[in-house]
Amino acid sequence: MKKTQFVRDLKEKDPVASPFLVKFSATAVGKNGKPYMNLILMDKSGEIEARVWEDVAMHIGQVVRDTIVWVDGRCQSYQGRRQVVAEKLQVLREDEVQLKDYLPESHLDSEVLYQRLLDWVGSMKDPFYRALAEAVFRDDAEIADRVKRAPAAKSIHHAYKTGLLEHVVSITGILDGLSQHYGEILDRDLLFLGGFFHDIGKIWELSYDRVTDYTDEGKLIGHLVMGVELIDRKIRELEAQDGRMPGPFPTDKKLLVKHLVLAHHGKLEYGSPKEPQCIEALVVHMIDDLDSKVNAISKFIENDQTPGRWTALSRNFERYFYKPDWAVEKLLKSQMKSES
Ligand SMILES: [Fe+2]
Ligand SMILES: [Fe+2]
Repeated sequence: MKKTQFVRDLKEKDPVASPFLVKFSATAVGKNGKPYMNLILMDKSGEIEARVWEDVAMHIGQVVRDTIVWVDGRCQSYQGRRQVVAEKLQVLREDEVQLKDYLPESHLDSEVLYQRLLDWVGSMKDPFYRALAEAVFRDDAEIADRVKRAPAAKSIHHAYKTGLLEHVVSITGILDGLSQHYGEILDRDLLFLGGFFHDIGKIWELSYDRVTDYTDEGKLIGHLVMGVELIDRKIRELEAQDGRMPGPFPTDKKLLVKHLVLAHHGKLEYGSPKEPQCIEALVVHMIDDLDSKVNAISKFIENDQTPGRWTALSRNFERYFYKPDWAVEKLLKSQMKSES
């Protein structure tokens, strides 16, 4: 079943006849005492809220998160936002659809990004730091597979397939430039490990075969501690292998790498158990913050459908953004396409 209608192109009054992935599903009771369903439908182009007023009892327990449903209905505007009123729903089988139509992904190639990461690993000078990076990215096939697929978040920034790797490569490129700029003030290898490992726990913190969600481990432990556990495990494995390092992994280096991961959220109230207490930790925290915000704001601007120069209100940033030329032109093009 080929998908031809995408969330991004839906306009008010458009008839809707297309399959979507169910991101969220809940039942509520209306003022008239009748149950209705609130859904969030998604595909690779975006997401949209939907209401179901008919046959609700039949859909409960079937139209649930992670199912792909065929939706017949129409698009309307509700409180200034687009919304689908679904008249008919039918759950589809996995073999009837192509999953890649439903999951947003990075426009960058995961293999190309991963090779850049490996090239940076190969350029590291410190034998201990480099052995640690190789053990994680070069020698562990499960980690490589997950790093190529994982998003960096459920929402907000880099929230799409390969988003984590895109984020890590972007950060490491900036860190490389900063290490040249500041020279010996900064330890390039340590900075790199901060870029590589700060969010590595997310490959297990999140599940991303369908709708991105937190795993039990993610909810109970979180990616900072999971990153530190990985570093501990890999150092133990390296020390058990003959000839992988010039000697046992130095304690101060081990503590610094772990500190960079634990301090990368910058403040205790943002989930870091330690605030940055070495210069590399501060730099990694600030570049992480910069890169996630640049991505979040550019995606918000790109997906905004408001005509003209200003976006709608961003709830995350509590402000309106001025749209650059590329965003205005992109919106005009997509409107012309949907009118023709
Ligand atoms: Fe993080
Ligand atoms: Fe990050």
